[in-house]
Amino acid sequence: MIFRQLFDQVSGTYSYLLASRSGGEALIIDPVLERVDRYLQLIKELDLRLVKASDTHLHADHVTGLGALRDRTQCITVMGEQTKADVVSMRLGDGDKLTIEGLALDVVYTPGHTDDSYSFVMPDRVFTGDTLLIRGTGRTDFQNGDPRAQYESIFGRLMKLPDATLVYPAHDYKGDTVSTIGEERAFNPRLRVKSVEEYVELMNNLKLPNPKMMDVAVPANIKVGLAQEEIARRGWSVAVPEALRLVGQPDIAFIDLRERSERERHGTIPGSLHVPYTSLQENIRGGGILCELARSTSKRLLFYCAYGERSAMAVQAAQDAGLSAACHIEGGLDAWKRAGGVVVK
Ligand SMILES: [Fe+2]
Repeated sequence: MIFRQLFDQVSGTYSYLLASRSGGEALIIDPVLERVDRYLQLIKELDLRLVKASDTHLHADHVTGLGALRDRTQCITVMGEQTKADVVSMRLGDGDKLTIEGLALDVVYTPGHTDDSYSFVMPDRVFTGDTLLIRGTGRTDFQNGDPRAQYESIFGRLMKLPDATLVYPAHDYKGDTVSTIGEERAFNPRLRVKSVEEYVELMNNLKLPNPKMMDVAVPANIKVGLAQEEIARRGWSVAVPEALRLVGQPDIAFIDLRERSERERHGTIPGSLHVPYTSLQENIRGGGILCELARSTSKRLLFYCAYGERSAMAVQAAQDAGLSAACHIEGGLDAWKRAGGVVVK
């Protein structure tokens, strides 16, 4: 496995780059906007293809790199289903897997620091975001933080992992880089409480100042901008009411860009083809299924995904490849379902 821990000194943030092999797909966790050039340089040097960028939660102390990475690599942006961030093109819930080629991270909902905090678990390590820090825990006094929920996340979920599990947090301000579950159980002063009440008392009396960047970072991280707006301006969007009328029409091909797990969980539009977003490029090139479908028939290619973000990027890529029949469903399956559109499982 390729694994890099990257540090942003200004905010004390750790970002993590993962891939299963040189030349393969890569995932970045908790990227910082100001460090995006560095990540992209490293990704190029290691001969990787960034396919997913994920934040463990909505950060208050730095602006996320998710939007910039999406714009520059067309990667999928991933966060938990509770998040208010608009940039997200894929939302995961507890029990899901965050996957790239050769790697599958278990998605564990660990609220408390924020109500959209997640941890990502691998057999030998866990990315804890700000839920569990090295000899500390993330503050719980803003962004719907809740010390009671955090206690449950730490003791009920993270401390159930094997003692040898490496702990990689989203921040450190003292220079520590990694710990283990066993080490934190033994030496983390915040975990030396006898009850949830004692933990709540401790967390409610920290009296911390707000992060310097909070007034800038939180609004910026909620609204990173949508790929869909530009696609709509170019006339390549189909609103849901129109899309509903197109089901079963001979001159249209519905193309589902989501992953298998999303299809199983949320259902699909009847009769749609499955072309996962990460394999789009090979399918829109000459000889690819979508390229041949568009050329040999007069069908319009109607892409859709969960929220319309991946499909907007897919339309742009298909149009760039010369497939002028490409369009997408605005708002994705989420909007489709809200309008009463039929799905099958
Ligand atoms: Fe945080």
